[in-house]
Amino acid sequence: MADLIITIDGPAASGKSTVARLLAEKLDASFLDTGAMYRAVTLAAMQAGVDLNDELKLLDIARECEFQFSAGAGKTIICIDNVDVTERIREPEVTANARHIAGVPEVRDELVQMQRQFAADTQRVVTEGRDQGTVVFGDADVKFFLTAEAGERARRRQADLGGKDSNQSLEQIQRAIEERDKSDESRAVGPLKPADDAIVVDTTDLSIDEVVGKLLALVKERCLKSK
Ligand code: DC
Repeated sequence: MADLIITIDGPAASGKSTVARLLAEKLDASFLDTGAMYRAVTLAAMQAGVDLNDELKLLDIARECEFQFSAGAGKTIICIDNVDVTERIREPEVTANARHIAGVPEVRDELVQMQRQFAADTQRVVTEGRDQGTVVFGDADVKFFLTAEAGERARRRQADLGGKDSNQSLEQIQRAIEERDKSDESRAVGPLKPADDAIVVDTTDLSIDEVVGKLLALVKERCLKSK
């Protein structure tokens, strides 16, 4: 297992991915975007024409497709059976359908195994998602939970989309984010919640650099001295 594991959990569009990637760079650690894994299974199921309520078929997809995750310039490159789907997994339809996949316990088990294997094969890892500190890496060295007000998260998501989904108003984006929060929080398995020992950071009024600086200082203070 990696000798440094940092988990960053939090709701949709709280800045987890960007912060986790930059923190990983600063710590010379691997970065794991677990949301991309749920998105990849979702896209694979959609492409296969599988009924998204058919849990057994979803599990087959998670087991049978070959998912590859590698570090690209500023983002994680995702391939399904050797086809690059990095952009496609961010499409709004995939985003909306991911909750079906995220709610299937056996699919979660499968992805949790992959996440632990990823950490076993690397020395340092910064991993982000919903359940990294609570379920996947209960013994992580430092656990963070990032939050931000829903309105601010909607503005960030709109900026990320960069006009790619200009049909959606800010209000619609915010509503979709709030629906995803509700679905993530009410799930029976791996629900979105801070681990008891997580450090909660409200990023509403902070820039990305400020958040990364804050987290880096906390990691150094809590564990790098002894590593
Ligand atoms: O963080 P994201 O928007 O890329 O996540 C995509 C979906 O996957 C979202 O519906 C939440 C879910 N997810 C999850 O259930 N557990 C994780 N560890 C990561 C993401």
